[in-house]
Amino acid sequence: MASPLSVSVLLATLSTLCLLGCTNTNDTPTALHPPEAVPATAESASQITVNESSFRCIRQMTPVRHFYVDNLQGNKEGTLAAANAPKGAIYPAGSVVQLVPTEAMVKREAGFSPPTGDWEFFELEVSSTGSKIHKRGFAEVNNRFGKNCFSCHVPAREPWDFICESGHGCEPIPIDHAMTGALQRSDPRCGEPVLQDGDNMALFKLKVMVFIGGIVNTINGWLN
Ligand code: HEC
Repeated sequence: MASPLSVSVLLATLSTLCLLGCTNTNDTPTALHPPEAVPATAESASQITVNESSFRCIRQMTPVRHFYVDNLQGNKEGTLAAANAPKGAIYPAGSVVQLVPTEAMVKREAGFSPPTGDWEFFELEVSSTGSKIHKRGFAEVNNRFGKNCFSCHVPAREPWDFICESGHGCEPIPIDHAMTGALQRSDPRCGEPVLQDGDNMALFKLKVMVFIGGIVNTINGWLN
């Protein structure tokens, strides 16, 4: 059992790191850059329907480095070309990008949401029966720790089309690729987990962080 002192030191450290659960929900930048001209293609002009059936077992999507991509309009080649463009590129309409099973970005029709580069942000609930959309929207969507998707991703707007990865200007998240990999390998929509060495430890660390992040959030809520 940790002593009260070490717990409070840990909490202080975590809140300094702004771990997962910074409660600042109002940090959506107000001064947005004007939208870039996105060439309209036949694909981007057609209507894109995004519902629960648009999301599937993350490992059935196509892996790119440490994340996965899909395309709801069958243009996976276009999505892969953007994801692999060495100097960044605008993703084609229909692109789905996921790093963890419960968060997704979907590229909507050109001109649909200029401030977010036409990306729609999703927070999903996933289980063995599939995906449920918990939250969806544009600049206003926060993750389950109260942090705004768009605010974190906007530094990567140019030339990476809001894709953060590492070194694209986004504030780093305290979840490393051991953890995101373990989450991908244990996506409940895929059936039995296919865990690798170290995954159980990574998942355990993540649970502890989420738990402590929740406490930090609650405490911040009391203080604000
Ligand atoms: C605290 C900042 C932060 C918040 C809040 C945040 N993200 Fe991210 N997101 C990141 C960073 C940084 C990465 C890259 C992590 C890595 O690869 O190491 C990332 C990665 C991703 C990726 C994989 C592609 C990429 O950009 O590298 C997707 C998809 C994604 N986030 C969606 C979301 C959605 C949807 C939300 C809201 C529900 C959200 N994110 C909230 C910072 C954030």
